[in-house]
Amino acid sequence: MFAKRFSDLNPYIPGEQPKDRVYIKLNANENPYPPSPEVDKVLKEFNADQFRLYPDPDSNELRNAIAGMLGNGVTSEMVFAGNGSDEVLSFVFYTFFDDDAPLYFPEHTYSFYPVYSDYYGIPYKKIPLKKDFSIDISAMLDGRSSGIIFANPNAPTGIYMPLSDIRSILDSYPADRVVVVDEAYIDFGGESAIPLLKEYKNLVIIRTFSKSFCFAGARLGFMIANPELVDAVFTTKNSFNHFPVDALTQKIGVASCGDSKYYKEICNKISKTRDDFSSQLRDAGWEVLPSMANFVFVRKEGLDGEKIYNAVKSRGILIRYFNKPGISDYVRITIGKPEDMKTLFEIMQGIVS
Ligand SMILES: Cc1ncc(COP(=O)(O)O)c(C=O)c1O
Repeated sequence: MFAKRFSDLNPYIPGEQPKDRVYIKLNANENPYPPSPEVDKVLKEFNADQFRLYPDPDSNELRNAIAGMLGNGVTSEMVFAGNGSDEVLSFVFYTFFDDDAPLYFPEHTYSFYPVYSDYYGIPYKKIPLKKDFSIDISAMLDGRSSGIIFANPNAPTGIYMPLSDIRSILDSYPADRVVVVDEAYIDFGGESAIPLLKEYKNLVIIRTFSKSFCFAGARLGFMIANPELVDAVFTTKNSFNHFPVDALTQKIGVASCGDSKYYKEICNKISKTRDDFSSQLRDAGWEVLPSMANFVFVRKEGLDGEKIYNAVKSRGILIRYFNKPGISDYVRITIGKPEDMKTLFEIMQGIVS
């Protein structure tokens, strides 16, 4: 009954959403604050009659608005918008990574990268992180890869790679192969690689509205690259999955781009909560990796990640652990509102004592 290729599928496992009780959700790096009031306005004024018609297949108004918000010489021809950055990533994998040499990515990074690689038959090599969990740049640059992808800040570590390091990767990487920087978490303190696009035609940047723009439920992500690469991704999209971003999400995306001040404020709030929570945990003897994202990666000597997760879940909070060698004693905690972090901190203190 099933095709042969089906038996080889190895699906991604998203953050759980149990319904047995109400949980404080700190397991999927979602934003604890609502989207901009401008989004509410669009929703109130939206006439359902507009659903009769297909949306703009190229999301032109949205791509213009994104380019305007980003500045730095970004034009709408340099932007491709999709249904969440997961969809954009899927097109990017299909378009740029071949099967004649492995794609390189860090051993611990966004777990969709190996899933897409398997799906498209792209061989890959996981490059171990350094002892301090930072990305091993020289190992990524051994000259034998067909492309490179990494998240900056990385997930689940939260560790940020400075622009000078990204520049040095691009300087030593062949100009005819693509370097993808997944900036899902860049708005929580890091500096974007966008200014490097002028100099490096093989740089592809991936962004999402799910984290800093509070849109995880709406599905909106985008890629920024030179127009030639954006055109190529359009070709891929229109060859097997031409579904554009839906009409309503295009509109709330445009409205959000016009209120970046609001989003900056909530990102600053989240970053401050993260730094306060991290100091509190460190003072209490937890090891916390330095994070520039909206989550922290944390462990306590002698405690197993799954045990911490279970203890916290039994008290009504969801966090995430990873059953993988090298990080099984860590948990990843999304930064919520200060009151959520206070409750979680008390639970974590209880676990230790
Ligand atoms: C590094 C990274 N990239 C991309 C995504 C996908 O985001 P979305 O598909 O919601 O835009 C995630 C989601 O957690 C992520 O952690």
